[in-house]
Parts: sequence; C-alpha cells; structure tokens
Amino acid sequence: MIAFYAERARGGTGLLVVEATYVDEIGRRLRFNSMLHDDHFIPGMRRLVESIHAGGAKAALQIAHGGRESRTEITGHVPVAPSPIISLYTSVGAPALPREMMVEEIQSVVSAFADAAERARQAGFDAVELHGAHAYLTGQFLSPVANRREDDYGGSVEKRSRFYVEILRAIKTRLGEDYPVICRMNGSTCSRAALRSLRPSRPLAFSSGPARMRSASRRAFTRRALTQSSLA
Ligand SMILES: Cc1cc2nc3c(=O)[nH]c(=O)nc-3n(C[C@H](O)[C@H](O)[C@H](O)COP(=O)(O)O)c2cc1C
Repeated sequence: MIAFYAERARGGTGLLVVEATYVDEIGRRLRFNSMLHDDHFIPGMRRLVESIHAGGAKAALQIAHGGRESRTEITGHVPVAPSPIISLYTSVGAPALPREMMVEEIQSVVSAFADAAERARQAGFDAVELHGAHAYLTGQFLSPVANRREDDYGGSVEKRSRFYVEILRAIKTRLGEDYPVICRMNGSTCSRAALRSLRPSRPLAFSSGPARMRSASRRAFTRRALTQSSLA
C-alpha cells in the first residue's frame, strides 16, 4: 500500500486522498480495508504519510463507516444503520437486515470519526476527507430512502443532515477550525428508478449509488435489486 501511494506521489500528484479508512470495527466493509479505530494503527499510517510527503505530495485520509453496507461475516456484528432497511445496493456478499442505531450509538460513532481524524493528524495527514458518498453510513442518514427515523436524526433535510454536521463539528472542535476537512458527497442517489421498479410492499432500500450509473448497468442493477428484495 505504501509503495502504491509513494509511486503516485513521485509521479507529481499534488494531493493524494488515501482510500476509505474505517473508524469503527462494526463499520468495516472488507477484510482488507484500512482501519484507524485504534492508536496502534498510527505508526503504520505515519510511514504511509512520510512516503507520500517524500514524493512531494500532500496527503489526506478518507474516513468512513459502512453502516448497512458492512457485513456480519467480516465484522462479527449485525450491521447498524439509521433504520432497519436492507440495502439492495451492496456489491459485497448477501444483503443483511441492519439494526437501527440508538441515539447513544449515533453519538459514539460521531466520536469515533473525531477520534480517527485526530489519529490521522497525529500520523501527519494534511487533511481528512469525510466519506459521505457511495451509500455508506453518512450517506444512509442523508437519504430519505435509507433513513426513516422519526427522531432528531430523520425526516427533514436538516434532521437527516444532523449526523453529518455533528461529525464535522466534532472534528473541527477536536482539531481546530484550520485543519482542512474535505466532504465527499453523492451528486445523485439514483433512487427514482429503483423506487419505481420496486413494489410498494417491498422494503424501500435503495439509497444511493454512483451518479454515472446509466442505462444497461442501471437495468442490471434494478434486476439484481428486485431479485434480492425477495429475500426480505
Ligand atoms: C476498487 C475501487 C475502490 C474504490 N475505493 C474508493 C474509496 O475508498 N473511496 C472513494 O471515495 N471512492 C472509491 N472508489 C470510487 C472511485 O474513487 C471513483 O469515484 C469511481 O471509480 C468513479 O470514478 P470517477 O469519479 O473518476 O468517475 C473506488 C472505486 C473502485 C473501483
């Protein structure tokens, strides 16, 4: 991993955003994901940053939580989400019914993001990027399809944004206003086609996807979604 990024830094890239790195074991998506939920990852991350800096580039770290896109077979836990709605978007493993997060859990994940951002700075990263795209936990809260909560974290746009904003505030409070935080968010949820295709009695569970998903891939995607929805 270090050799991969070092080569790109030497190639003249100005800023390298290092791939999704998970703030919490429950939010992990893949076995080989990089993690930063514990201090013992800091020295390895520091070696990575030093090799990027040595190549002449700046380094940012993308921090993430998979929410309902995480898998029990990888984490050993039932995935958590804003609402107990199966994702039909997932490209990894079988879709699983996630557990609705309690408010205390939401607040603990907010702290986990701030902790990971602090570790990133300790490792020497010049910025962090908050992963709010690709249907991961922050995107799930933003989505009216994945988020059916009726408390302060669901409903209006303001309430659905609350989780994201609380994470941003927690990072800024911890690291100061001057530490750069990049926000990655979807330009489109691609959800209308899926909502039209799914029968109303089926769980609505198609929150977001890449904006450029079009025609053939969208049809294949919808076919797969319909097949999987019969699992619910
Ligand atoms: C194997 C693979 C891994 C990816 N990992 C990440 C990631 O960690 N974080 C992220 O924001 N996007 C990730 N993406 C999405 C890409 O960064 C990018 O948005 C996508 O390939 C579309 O490219 P484009 O934005 O240049 O059109 C990944 C894509 C692929 C194919």
